[in-house]
Amino acid sequence: MHGANRALAAALLLMVTSPVMAQSRSDAPIAIAVEADKPGAKIDRNLFGQFAEHLGTGIYGGVWVGNSSTIPNVRGIRKDVVAALRAIRVPNVRWPGGCFADEYFWRRGIGPASARHNTINSNWGGAVEPNSFGTDEFMDFVDQIGSEAYVSVNVGSGTVQDAADWLAYMTADPTTAAGKERAANGHPKPYKVKYLGLGNEAWGCGGSMTPDHYVDVLKPFARFARNYNPAQTGAETMQRIAVGPDGGKPEYTEAVMKAYKDRTWAWSIEGLSLHSYTTNGWPPSYASENFDETAYAGLIKATLGMNDLIAQHSAIMDKYDPEKKVPLVVDEWGVWLKPNVGSDPGFLQQQNSLRDAIIAALNLNIFARHADRVRGSNIAQMINVLQAMILTDKEKMVLTPTYYVYKMYLPFQDASFVPVSFDAGSYVHGDVTLPRVDAIAARDTAGKLWLTVTNLDPNRSARIEASFAGISARSATGQILTAPRIDSVNSFAAPETVVPKPYVATRGSKGVVLDLPAKSIIVVQIEG
Ligand code: AHR
Repeated sequence: MHGANRALAAALLLMVTSPVMAQSRSDAPIAIAVEADKPGAKIDRNLFGQFAEHLGTGIYGGVWVGNSSTIPNVRGIRKDVVAALRAIRVPNVRWPGGCFADEYFWRRGIGPASARHNTINSNWGGAVEPNSFGTDEFMDFVDQIGSEAYVSVNVGSGTVQDAADWLAYMTADPTTAAGKERAANGHPKPYKVKYLGLGNEAWGCGGSMTPDHYVDVLKPFARFARNYNPAQTGAETMQRIAVGPDGGKPEYTEAVMKAYKDRTWAWSIEGLSLHSYTTNGWPPSYASENFDETAYAGLIKATLGMNDLIAQHSAIMDKYDPEKKVPLVVDEWGVWLKPNVGSDPGFLQQQNSLRDAIIAALNLNIFARHADRVRGSNIAQMINVLQAMILTDKEKMVLTPTYYVYKMYLPFQDASFVPVSFDAGSYVHGDVTLPRVDAIAARDTAGKLWLTVTNLDPNRSARIEASFAGISARSATGQILTAPRIDSVNSFAAPETVVPKPYVATRGSKGVVLDLPAKSIIVVQIEG
């Protein structure tokens, strides 16, 4: 859980700058060359996945209110939340945890109310877990938001048989005992389980296993947690994702990937997970509101370490899987801050600011640059927990700045990466030096060209002169996200402080000119 906080931002500067040119003067325009004639790897839409754990009010209150609630709902699931999530086309939702999954017994969460057990959520504040949101409710939820299920089985305290029985309950034909039980609970048709997590943080809350021990445990889970859904063949085949590294520690990557290379016909995996949070140390002491520029620059620097972290694990994976068949799935990431004043510290509640939106954009850019290996990511967490998309308080709901980044980045889902080169310049605060801007480009599934540029500098605007090889670009329109302050947030009282606004670029001699205010993100479609 400790972050990818080691690398200097200079690494990113070098990677995006090809060739490396002299640094731009502080107020000189920044030239971005978009090689529109050279499409690269597919930016898998699963890079925009979500994570929903039974933690604090992430599920209870955030998603589930029960069908007797006065909060508008469909079968107990909040209508406002479903509408907001549909609008960002969530590709998959990882559930039920997290550390919660490492102790989750699925049988306590199926059947009539009388069969649901109250248990203790031992990881998260000792809260009572009513198990009223279980497998059938989760499947209903992902269906309502139009997403895929990414289910993490309990490899920590559970048995292989528990996991096998759960998969049978979810996917077996209704003529079988497991399928009959599911049908009796209202769903005769097998559910689709597209992604299966084979444990969570087995190196930590998932059992503190050595890498070799986890590999021994992984194999029977990979073999016996079978998916019986007859519709899940070919491209729909369930993808099994093994526990991978904790931040920069290489041991799990080595052990799991070596086992993968030496595997027999009896088992396999289709993904390796990486967890890395952006923090300022442990426990995190940076606040989510009312912070200063030192906290801003420090966390931006920390988050840019994600680039080196991915490069490090990709290099290990390349040794055992040079064809890049196994995706790296960053299925827990995001900014982890001090809990809100007055909140239960076990509930991991924090506000979400313009800074966090910039952190989201920078990470999505890093994932896209590594799209040949990184083919999934799940930001932690979807609602009311850590770097959330949505905050709720009883009947109230507010969309966070991070939510709007996901909305603005919709054209990048399944788009083809297009190389860009630029001299990012630098933004300096105290002893922290960061790139001044960041950018990626892509062609969407309809062939349209998109460019996103982030101005990391909280004090200086940036003029971008974008040129485009292979097309004659005359205009660019899209959206901009900025706010009066780096710590501006959307609250229930003022929900529209940080929202996207329409943006129109001007025509330049070589293409288009984009003027970015300090601390802003733009996403534009390039038109010829
Ligand atoms: O996202 C919160 C927690 O962070 C998850 O439960 C765990 O997997 C990680 O340590």
